Amino acid sequence: MSDDHAQSTNAAWGGRFAEATDAFVAEFTASIQFDQRLYRHDIQGSVAHATMLSEVGVLTADECEQIVNGLKAVQADIESGQQVWSVTLEDVHMNVESALTAKIGPVGKKLHTGRSRNDQVATDIRLYLREAIDGLSTELTRLQRGLVTLATNEADTIMPGFTHLQTAQPVTFGHHLLAWNEMLQRDFERLQDCRKRVNILPLGAAALAGTTFPINRERTAELLGFDRASENSLDSVSDRDFAIEFTHWASLTMMHLSRMSEELVLWASAQFDFINLPDRFCTGSSIMPQKKNPDVPELVRGKTGRVYGHLMSLLTLMKSQPLAYNKDNQEDKEPLFDTIDTLAGSLRAFADMVPYIEAKPAVMKAAALRGYSTATDLADYLVKKGMAFRDAHEVVGKSVAYGLAQGKDLSEMTLDELTPFSDTITADVFDVLTLEGSVAARDHLGGTAPNQVRAAAARAGVLLASR
Ligand code: ARG
Repeated sequence: MSDDHAQSTNAAWGGRFAEATDAFVAEFTASIQFDQRLYRHDIQGSVAHATMLSEVGVLTADECEQIVNGLKAVQADIESGQQVWSVTLEDVHMNVESALTAKIGPVGKKLHTGRSRNDQVATDIRLYLREAIDGLSTELTRLQRGLVTLATNEADTIMPGFTHLQTAQPVTFGHHLLAWNEMLQRDFERLQDCRKRVNILPLGAAALAGTTFPINRERTAELLGFDRASENSLDSVSDRDFAIEFTHWASLTMMHLSRMSEELVLWASAQFDFINLPDRFCTGSSIMPQKKNPDVPELVRGKTGRVYGHLMSLLTLMKSQPLAYNKDNQEDKEPLFDTIDTLAGSLRAFADMVPYIEAKPAVMKAAALRGYSTATDLADYLVKKGMAFRDAHEVVGKSVAYGLAQGKDLSEMTLDELTPFSDTITADVFDVLTLEGSVAARDHLGGTAPNQVRAAAARAGVLLASR
């Protein structure tokens, strides 16, 4: 064995090694390439840890001060671009610690007392994710506010409502927008619930069994704004449920955004032509000069796939892992980070765009008039005059068949054309056959009547104002 093999390259754990790490293995096993984005949270956790250690007498006040100031200086170096990240130092934790020791000398080596990278990394990710959740909550709220404002403005705008993508019954555009808001409201609530399980301190679990030092975990939790310290050291270093739960939240939210995207794409097409999306949210085609493509919703729809993929990656990553920490867990970061980035971008794009969706009320109304969308209203009318619903359904079906043959909507037929199907029909039928009459009649909690939409938007606005 040659001399250079007898020397380990890693000062943090090289003591028991007889040869240096293979260069490719060092690169392959390192995480610094992607975990450097945790630097601020790593330092935040270390400052709290050092503070707690000095309070319980494991570090002197002077040592703690040197460490805390040193960590702040390291952070300043990172933020001014002076930090050189080293693959040999594996990850953000050892890079920061090594930079600290280079700055303040041997006292820097005391920082890692009573902890392990296993509880350190779990703490860092939780701090990082908590901050990300708060940012995403703000964006989600901004998007919801835009939707609710638009819904209020479009409370009287009539469009066809669809089932099976076939014209079903007229609805108001405001009502449709508030349906989207309901999805997002659930997403917001789920995200706040997820945050509760993110906001728990694992630090103190050390490698897996706890530490022999007289640590005060409640104090560290308090310093870092965690709701509490975790209960079980083995679980603390091995648990990644919170990341999976967040990615599941993200998958549901992207599923919702993709449904909205699909509708926006359809509505922006020449065939529907229900809305206009401002040019700044669209792009053109390099070959077809007439094109204006709804890229933002298309891309959000497409990005849904990668988030579902990350959920599956994380679930599979954790499947069958024995307790406690395993190196596998290092693979949690890239899916989690990309999920956060994708949600941040998608929510931002939607929150920016939604207030500027322009409805085309005349086109929407004409479309609602085309598909016999008030047929159910005619049936309800007959029922109110004493006919059984199944019989009424039959009468209206025949009227629609007649209309199709004549190329006329129900509201365009004369009374003489309608009465042959049932002599119960009188002139007041035209009150219910109009689109306005149809939507106004659905006047109850959750219905599409314009005044219900305004009331629902007002309630949603109160909820949003309390955030
Ligand atoms: N870079 C590691 C990770 O991301 C940190 C924890 C490493 N722990 C260990 N015992 N090797 O998971």
